Formats: sequence, structure tokens, C-alpha cells
Amino acid sequence: MKAIVWTGSLEVRDDVEVRDLRPNEVRVRVHATGLCHSDVSVVNGTIPFPTPAVLGHEGAGVVEEVGGAVRKVKVGDHVVLTTLGNCGQCDACDRGQPTHCRDTAGRLSAPFTVAGEKAFQFANAGVFAETTVVKETQAVVIDPEVPLASASLIGCAVLTGTGAVLNRARPRPGQSALVIGIGGIGLNVLQGLAIANCGPIIAVDANPAKEAAARQFGATHFIAAGPDVDTAAAVKEICPQGVDFAFECVGHPALIRQSIDLLDWGGSCVLLGVPKLGSEASFVVNSLYNDKSILGCRYGAARPHHDIPLFIDLYKSGRLKLDELVSATYQPEQVQEALDAMHGGALNRAVLTWA
Ligand SMILES: NC(=O)c1ccc[n+]([C@@H]2O[C@H](COP(=O)([O-])OP(=O)(O)OC[C@H]3O[C@@H](n4cnc5c(N)ncnc54)[C@H](O)[C@@H]3O)[C@@H](O)[C@H]2O)c1
Ligand SMILES: [Zn+2]
Ligand SMILES: [Zn+2]
Repeated sequence: MKAIVWTGSLEVRDDVEVRDLRPNEVRVRVHATGLCHSDVSVVNGTIPFPTPAVLGHEGAGVVEEVGGAVRKVKVGDHVVLTTLGNCGQCDACDRGQPTHCRDTAGRLSAPFTVAGEKAFQFANAGVFAETTVVKETQAVVIDPEVPLASASLIGCAVLTGTGAVLNRARPRPGQSALVIGIGGIGLNVLQGLAIANCGPIIAVDANPAKEAAARQFGATHFIAAGPDVDTAAAVKEICPQGVDFAFECVGHPALIRQSIDLLDWGGSCVLLGVPKLGSEASFVVNSLYNDKSILGCRYGAARPHHDIPLFIDLYKSGRLKLDELVSATYQPEQVQEALDAMHGGALNRAVLTWA
């Protein structure tokens, strides 16, 4: 089958196979895969990952085959894939925090072969491929009427961004927020803030072309960051005391510091961006004295079997934008073109289509 393999370079290949199912697994025909910056981070070395690997972790498709012990998913179901694959049996799973399940980290699954050689699956998903194998718990069944290109983006961008607002920050209506970095993640933070009735909602991006999308997804203000712009002063003009929530969606220590410095008393900074492994960021200790917090957030503190049906309902009632996230679709052979367009800042999300 066809897949995009990371070997130190990105190769579109036809000699990729996926192994037979274990009892608790499903085989999914991938229809659409969103391009997330975390895939780019493997390619540019920010996130170390062994090779060869099938990248891609934001996907949706149709179930082709189920293992003998699978009970909740059947052949023909339309599914959004998640990266967690939590065990469902530990303390963290039982208390409703699957992102804290230790089975979800460090598990290097390798269900593929490339020219006969074992190949890894990025983020337990490996959806830069026509077909993948995941645990049953990673395939969340959705309404087949939802276009799969739109649904694919729930698998990371929506869970991470909207989830960070609704599950981690949990703002009250009317609270103010700053969002730095308006890519696929930042746009979903913005729409989460709009769903939570926050305001003002201030979007910041180095690319001025992001303003229209930022406002479409809920920003009440937009600041184009740059060497000649004092972002902090511009934020203080809107919120003189600082903001209740600041979301860093780039992965840059200087922007993490800026987010912390712009908090109002009692405010929280939520870290979504992933800088290079081992990066450090600093803050002035006294500046946190007035009940300020720094919150890490992995995968939107998601509970996929709760959140994905909720996001589908919000989409159907017109409150969550999915179709508008898909700026352009590409064939797998055009992956470099899609990455270039993403870097050029022209896109909300680029989606590869496989079927
Ligand atoms: N915490 C998680 O679970 C999780 C999940 C997915 C992605 N991520 C991370 O979130 C980050 C964003 O991912 P994405 O897919 O939205 O990326 P993206 O490439 O789509 O968007 C990044 C945006 O940041 C902007 N930007 C870059 N430098 C900037 C600067 N100095 N000031 C202001 N804006 C700047 C870019 O113009 C772009 O709009 C990445 O670091 C990614 O790895 C984290
Ligand atoms: Zn991602
Ligand atoms: Zn568990």
C-alpha cells in the first residue's frame, strides 16, 4: 500500500504493509489526514523519533476489519482516530484522565513494514498511510454524514485546542484571553474560548495574514507581532490589568515568558506549543505571587470518547467550525507542497486525502 515514510527524508512509497490484527485492534482505511506541526517537528528534529516511521496522527477513516475481542466498533463504521490508546484499567483511566494513563506515553508501536523492514507508527496512529492498525479504544465512531476531511482534524487540532479551553483552562463566561500562534491549534483555542463565552479574546500571530481566520474563529482583537510591534503594550491597551488566560500555541520560550508576564492577578498561562526537547523557559518568581498559574496541557486533557461526540454535536449545531479548518486538500504525493503552504501561513489546516 501507499504511505509517507520518514527515513530522514519524507518518501512517498508503495512498498509499505501493515501487520495482521491483534484481538483488541481495528484496521482502518484512512480517508483524510490533517498536517499538524508535531509531524513537522519530527521532520525538523524538534521531536526525536526513530526511523523508519509512518508519520501522521490526525486522521479519520472507515473501519475495514476488527480483531476477535473488539466489541464497540464494527466494519464500515466511520471513525476519528486518537493518539492515546489508554489502557482503560488503571487509576488514571478510572478517574477520567486518560491522558495521564502511563500506557499512552513511550509505547513505540511498529505495525508497519517498509520494503520488509519494521517501521514505527508516529503517536500510535501512523495515518500518513492508506491503512493503519490501532487499538479499538483509539477509533471513536462518528456520524457518517460528517465529511471525513473535516472530521480528521478532531484527531489532534480540535481535541488539543478546544480541549485545552474546555477541559484544562475551564474559563468562566466573560473572562479575557490571549492566544499566541494562530495555526491549527490556536484557531481551535479561539473557538473553544468563543464556545465558553469568553471576551475579550486577543489573537497574536507573526503572520498578519492570520487575522481573517482568527476573527472568524472567535478573536475579538488581532495583533500582528513583529520587530516593530510592542505586543505587550498592545495587549495592555485592550486589557490594562492583563488577561485571565494566556495560551501559548507556538512552542517558543520567549513567547511562554511573554504569556506569563501578561497575566492578570489570578490568571493562568496554558502551554500548548512543544519546543525542542529539553528547552527551558524562565519567569520572575515574584510575578506569580498573585495566584497566577502555569498549566501544561497534553492533547487538550482530552477524554476522547466523551469529547469527540460532544465536538460532533457542536459541529452539527453550528457552534464548532470543522469545514472552515480545511483550507485545502492534497494528494499524498503533494505532501511537500502542503508543508510549504503550511509554512507560508496561507492555511488553517492542510489535509491529505487517501481515498
Ligand atoms: N500540547 C499538545 O498536546 C500539542 C498537540 C498538537 C500540537 N502541539 C504543538 O502546538 C504548536 C502549534 O501547532 P500548529 O499545528 O498549530 O502549528 P502551525 O504551524 O499550524 O501554526 C503555528 C503558528 O504560530 C505562528 N508563529 C510562529 N512564530 C511566531 C511568533 N514568534 N509569534 C507569533 N506567532 C508565531 C505561525 O505564524 C503560525 O500561524 C506546535 O508546537 C505543536 O507541536 C501541541
Ligand atoms: Zn498534532
Ligand atoms: Zn490507563
